[in-house]
Amino acid sequence: MDKKTGNNYIGIAVLGLGVVGSGFVKALLEEQRAVTVPGSPNVHLTHVLVRDVEKKRLVDIDKDLLTNDFSAIVDDSETNVIVEVLGGEEPAATFLEQALSSGKHVVTANKEVVAKHGRKLIEKAQANNVEFRYEASVGAGIPIISALQGSLASDYISGIWAIINGTTNYILTSMASGGLDFDGALSEAQVLGYAEPDPTNDVEGFDARYKLAILASLGFGTYVDPSEIYCEGINSLHARDFKYARELGYAIKLLAIAREEMESIQIRVHPALLREDLLLAKVDGVYNAIQIQGERVGRLLMYGRGAGSEPTTSGLLGDVAEVVRRMASKGEKVAIVSEERQKALKPISDLHTSYYLRISVLDQAGVLAAISQVFAKWDISIGSVIQKESDDISQTAELVVLTHVSKESAVQQAAKEILGLAEVESIGSLIRVESDV
Ligand code: NAP
Ligand code: HSE
Repeated sequence: MDKKTGNNYIGIAVLGLGVVGSGFVKALLEEQRAVTVPGSPNVHLTHVLVRDVEKKRLVDIDKDLLTNDFSAIVDDSETNVIVEVLGGEEPAATFLEQALSSGKHVVTANKEVVAKHGRKLIEKAQANNVEFRYEASVGAGIPIISALQGSLASDYISGIWAIINGTTNYILTSMASGGLDFDGALSEAQVLGYAEPDPTNDVEGFDARYKLAILASLGFGTYVDPSEIYCEGINSLHARDFKYARELGYAIKLLAIAREEMESIQIRVHPALLREDLLLAKVDGVYNAIQIQGERVGRLLMYGRGAGSEPTTSGLLGDVAEVVRRMASKGEKVAIVSEERQKALKPISDLHTSYYLRISVLDQAGVLAAISQVFAKWDISIGSVIQKESDDISQTAELVVLTHVSKESAVQQAAKEILGLAEVESIGSLIRVESDV
């Protein structure tokens, strides 16, 4: 990394020096070429914001660069670009707003801030004629954001199906292949460093919901508020669901889905059964994949490592390089989201799909008839019923039911009524089947 030489450099400050920040700073210090082009100014690391300046770091860094005072960064006229990898909503959102207001370009990997505050931050960037870039916020190094903003921007995107959380995909893969239950698979993922000590954001689906809000906003050209996205996590899935799903020819994945319909946009995050021959069903471990349906491009799938220091650094460096190029050429910025489609989000209760239900029942005559009657009452047609293991001691059996396409609200009502039947012990799982992928 070059020393400052007059005005011929671009000052970059980094907020955060954890898993991602360390990888990014190391790359920036070692590989100037990663972010510059012939003729562009050199880059210079001006500051790194941390909570604790005394903490031992994963990267060898001049201690004078560390600060816990954001004002020293935002007030520094020699800092032109701020790379934010703090995580969490605050103080990150406030820092980024201040940075943009001060005329600094911003690059972030923080999906929570982009999903919740993206609209305001984009407007702030446009008002101040600076860049706000967030490639690494979805899929780490998978270049899906720039694809949606660039090569795919002229196509008409009508569907997004994505596996965009590495932690949950790792856990689901372990449950499917190792027969582990949820707690066992989570503990294994934590030991290996794939899941955080507090895994709530990942296993409850919140992380995927932020990422889907970002993808849908770009793909459909309309801002999507993450809190309006139906969201269901993976913690109620049972090892037996994976066994039964496999016997029926399905995998179970945490899917983030956004689809345009005539009058509305259907958008949701939940575990789903996927036919085993689909490409998305084969995405295992910590890998991510994003499938887009475009009017002209058709179905397109981007697959890669969606988490980790190096892939995320790749996304961040690409964004910084773009800022450097534009600063060097004094080029015009591209519009980030245009409000071209104003459609209401469709409530989950109006969804039409097939459903998998695992029902624990008393192993006696008439049970199936009682359950069928409830399904018939709610106009739900049954695709198949399989009786799985029976327990001789408790005299119970497990039924696995696959419905034909039915309405979500009807299925939820039917499930409640089935649960009220004297012959029914519990409904272990109710999982949507995603067939139109
Ligand atoms: P991390 O390891 O927890 O690091 C966070 C860093 O931010 C730490 O260095 C911490 O300082 C600093 N920090 C946090 N709050 C601060 C505050 N109020 N003031 C000053 N410094 C503060 O997090 P990470 O895994 O690198 O993730 C960073 C961001 O990247 C998140 O938005 C995450 O969602 C996103 N991301 C992560 C991955 C991944 O694989 N990890 C992939 C894609 C995107 P101290 O070190 O002093 O505590
Ligand atoms: N916790 C996230 C995941 C990190 O597991 O995918 C990358 O955003």
